[in-house]
Amino acid sequence: MKSTLKAMIFLSMVATPSLLSASVSATDANDITLSAAGDATKGKRLFNRCRACHNLTATARTRIGPNLDNLFGRKAGTADGYKYSKALMEAEFDWTETALDSWLAQPRKFLPGNKMSFAGLRKEQDRKDLMAYLREATVEAAE
Ligand code: HEC
Repeated sequence: MKSTLKAMIFLSMVATPSLLSASVSATDANDITLSAAGDATKGKRLFNRCRACHNLTATARTRIGPNLDNLFGRKAGTADGYKYSKALMEAEFDWTETALDSWLAQPRKFLPGNKMSFAGLRKEQDRKDLMAYLREATVEAAE
C-alpha cells in the first residue's frame, strides 16, 4: 500500500514537469504586480533612456539592441534577426516582470557577459513606472 502510494507520487512527478513549467511561466509572464504599481506616463519618459537602442514594435527598424515587441512572455534572446551575445542567446528564461526588474536594476549582475551598455535603473519606482509603460507599448495592436 505504502509503496503503491510512493509509486503514484513518483509517477505524477515525472509525468507533469512540462505541464507544470508551461503553466508556471505563463502565470509569471501574466503577473502584473510590479507594473500595476507603476505610472505609465512617467514610464514613457523613462523609456527615453532606452529609446536610442530599442524600438518597441516588431516592424520597426532594429537599433543597437533588439526590438522589444511582445516582451512579456517572450523567451530571452529570441527577437527575429537580432545578433545577441552568447549570454542572452543561451539564456533559458522568459521575460517576466521579476526577470526584467532584476535585469534593469543591474544588467551586468543579472546576466554576466551580456552586451547591453546600460548601467541600470537604481530606483525601484522607476522600474515599476517603466514596466507600466512597457506593458502598454510592447503589445502590438490587433490588425
Ligand atoms: C546603449 C544601448 C542600450 C540601452 C541604452 C539600453 N539597451 Fe537594452 N539592450 C541593448 C543591447 C545591445 C541588448 C542585447 C544584449 C545582448 O545581446 O547581450 C539589449 C537587450 C535588452 C533586453 C533583452 C531583450 C531580449 O530579446 O531578450 C531588454 C529587455 C532590454 N534590453 C531592455 C532595455 C530597457 C528597458 C532599457 C532602458 C531602461 C534598455 N534596454 C537600455 C542595448 C541597450
